[in-house]
Amino acid sequence: PLVTSKEIFNKAYDGKYAIGAFNVNNMEIIQGIVDAAKEEKSPLILQVSAGARKYAKPAYLKKLVEAAIMDTDLPIVLHLDHGEDFEICKQCIDDGFTSVMIDASHHPFEENIEITKRVVEYAHARGVVVEAELGRLAGIEDAVNVSEKDATFTDPNQAVEFVKRTGVDSLAIAIGTSHGAYKFKGEPNLDYERLEKITQLLDGFPLVLHGASTVLPEFVELCNTYGGNIPGAKGVPEEMLRRAASFGVCKINIDTDLRLAMTAAIRKSLTEDPKNFDPRKYLGAGREAIKSMVRHKIANVLGSSNTI
Ligand code: G3H
Ligand code: 13P
Ligand code: ZN
Ligand code: NA
Repeated sequence: PLVTSKEIFNKAYDGKYAIGAFNVNNMEIIQGIVDAAKEEKSPLILQVSAGARKYAKPAYLKKLVEAAIMDTDLPIVLHLDHGEDFEICKQCIDDGFTSVMIDASHHPFEENIEITKRVVEYAHARGVVVEAELGRLAGIEDAVNVSEKDATFTDPNQAVEFVKRTGVDSLAIAIGTSHGAYKFKGEPNLDYERLEKITQLLDGFPLVLHGASTVLPEFVELCNTYGGNIPGAKGVPEEMLRRAASFGVCKINIDTDLRLAMTAAIRKSLTEDPKNFDPRKYLGAGREAIKSMVRHKIANVLGSSNTI
């Protein structure tokens, strides 16, 4: 069934594991993710970005997710990823999403609170939960010294005030992760001291980690072996994600790792079978790669296997 993340997060919090929030853009991606979660008996968050809505059209994605739900009895959250204003959050709530993110973190603190509060009011009146963000995800060049960290990473005391004043259901925090395949120039590094402080102050409150792909070297290499050109990619090591999940982090966002797995498999399939022009062959290989990536994440990184 389609569910909100409330109980799922409570269980994950107490069990010190996390739920994967996987970005979906088409049928093969949705099927790969859902098949993996089915085999792992794990709850699932399927998240849709504005870019995904633009690519696939909102109605198609909604119907594909509904089809996935008919196909399984897994608890699935349908979540808007990075909603940039009230309007898109409202649209998704009206469309039947069970969870939305309002990402007003680039606005000043008071404005972030105002915008988030407005979404929370609209969502809660309709049984929908809300994720908000405080702090800015660091780019590869950002946050090299302490004062820059304090300027971009989530301030623990502000986080407490933000949650209290907005009534939001979960909070995305900035502790050193970033989106995409180029997260660190040198050694990967997350601010666990900050995470621990936020976890303590917001006792029991679910936190969200964006930009949490690992960028597994074997998949980058596979892409490059079969004609790709993705040099210097680096993500968050799996051990660091497991450690984050042992604190208040309950939701871990993964998109880049799915993109890399699918692209590697499609490149390989096309290269190894140059006579093929049946899209089902290479898209099928892509779907299979998504499935094994998601199984690996659930079983070995997130720790949410057998929790339903
Ligand atoms: O946070 C960004 C996600 O990876 C979604 O990316 O906006 O290209 O769909 P997108
Ligand atoms: P990655 O780019 O690390 O997969 O992060 C995805 C994300 O945060 C989606 O909101
Ligand atoms: Zn994100
Ligand atoms: Na946790």
